[in-house]
Amino acid sequence: MAKASTFVCNACGAAHKKWSGRCDACGAWNTITEEAPLSAGPAANTLGAQRGAAVPLTDLSTRAEAPPRTGSGLVELDRVLGGGLVPASAVLVGGDPGIGKSTLLLQAASSFARKNLKCLYISGEEATAQVQMRAARLSLADAPVKLAAETNLRDILTTLEAEKPDLAIIDSIQTMWADTVGSAPGSVSQVRSAAYELTSFAKRRGTAVVLVGHVTKDGQIAGPRVVEHMVDTVLYFEGERGHQFRILRAVKNRFGPADEIGVFEMTDAGLAEVSNPSALFLSERDAPAAGSVVFAGIEGTRPVLVEFQALVAPTPHSQPRRTVVGWDGGRLAMILAVLESRCGIPFAGLDVYLNVAGGLKIGEPAADLAVATALLSAREDTALPADTVVFGEISLSGALRPVGQTENRLKEAGKLGFTTAIAPARSKTGGGMGLAIREMADLTQVVGEIFGAG
Ligand code: TYD
Ligand code: MG
Repeated sequence: MAKASTFVCNACGAAHKKWSGRCDACGAWNTITEEAPLSAGPAANTLGAQRGAAVPLTDLSTRAEAPPRTGSGLVELDRVLGGGLVPASAVLVGGDPGIGKSTLLLQAASSFARKNLKCLYISGEEATAQVQMRAARLSLADAPVKLAAETNLRDILTTLEAEKPDLAIIDSIQTMWADTVGSAPGSVSQVRSAAYELTSFAKRRGTAVVLVGHVTKDGQIAGPRVVEHMVDTVLYFEGERGHQFRILRAVKNRFGPADEIGVFEMTDAGLAEVSNPSALFLSERDAPAAGSVVFAGIEGTRPVLVEFQALVAPTPHSQPRRTVVGWDGGRLAMILAVLESRCGIPFAGLDVYLNVAGGLKIGEPAADLAVATALLSAREDTALPADTVVFGEISLSGALRPVGQTENRLKEAGKLGFTTAIAPARSKTGGGMGLAIREMADLTQVVGEIFGAG
């Protein structure tokens, strides 16, 4: 952040040279506050190079070894971190309030502490007694974790300097408050400067810092997005409140693959790891029903089978509804358009509802064919056989494209007792992995051969 720009909008984070009543960038009124310059950054970076000194790419003397990692023993968490916690790294864990972030991180802190990491859990939201009660509820009361309840950034940095922990958890970044910044805790400038100071501390002292950030609906309180670029790893903890499943998803990771997921189940005794998510996601499936299709997906490095559910019903309104949970609304519109214009199956005058069972969010284009099949199955009122999985990408011409990791998808389906796969042509190259594969060239063939319509 440039030293000259000391006026910052708390709604959008834009920096201004002087104060004004209205932010030019976002148009909000009365959101600009003065901000003191930030403290100096780390004296040297963690790779050991001199500050500002350029080194040749070929100079191996400054090259760092692969970062040593510590596993927590929680397999689902370690995988998402890219194989364990990296020292001096900054990790952001974002999620809706009440989704289970504090629970997850208290469990993680206890696990890391049992692997001989010195762990400090700093809560700005709960008193230490409350955190202790939660730990007791999670049967972690005897874990060698230190607790602190603080919100003032200066006090926190003093505590961190005194304790020099291997892992510090800051719960949450929105409650932290620097007395050098004029605005209220939770504002963009407060959240940013707290994140900056804490990540600088991480790099300077070799402490791994985990920042908890609440995702917020409106712009008044800064969400985790404003600090995403400052940290090494960004994890989102997702799930539906009404469901017990929780997904920890890596959306950015400088030390490992992004897009990796860890699956947990919220129980009375805290978060339990789910080592076989497919079985869990399919456990709620009833007898074969029209509109229900099992998609053989890949999340990160792991195959996951999930059920897509579609409902198609005549609408009393002039503008039919398109409601999607767990899948992209724009992609649904595209598939409906392809079904209409390439296969002649109209959806005008019909409401369309699409849902991914279990609260998982799917982003893979490989789910296109599963979505199209679910829509056709619902519209034609024809259930697919219960032992069938579907995957494949659909192009705008209606042609089906083979997708990556076909073998892994089929293997997982076979493991869970599926016998047939509906997949794009050329998916059979690696063998069927024990499944019968119905190869389809395009969507018209699916409509004709699977649903006998068209
Ligand atoms: P919490 O970790 O406080 O959420 P966050 O920090 O993301 O705001 O979790 C809150 C919810 O988790 C709360 O509604 C109760 C539930 N919960 C359980 O179901 N089991 C448990 O063992 C614990 C500790 C919490
Ligand atoms: Mg919390």
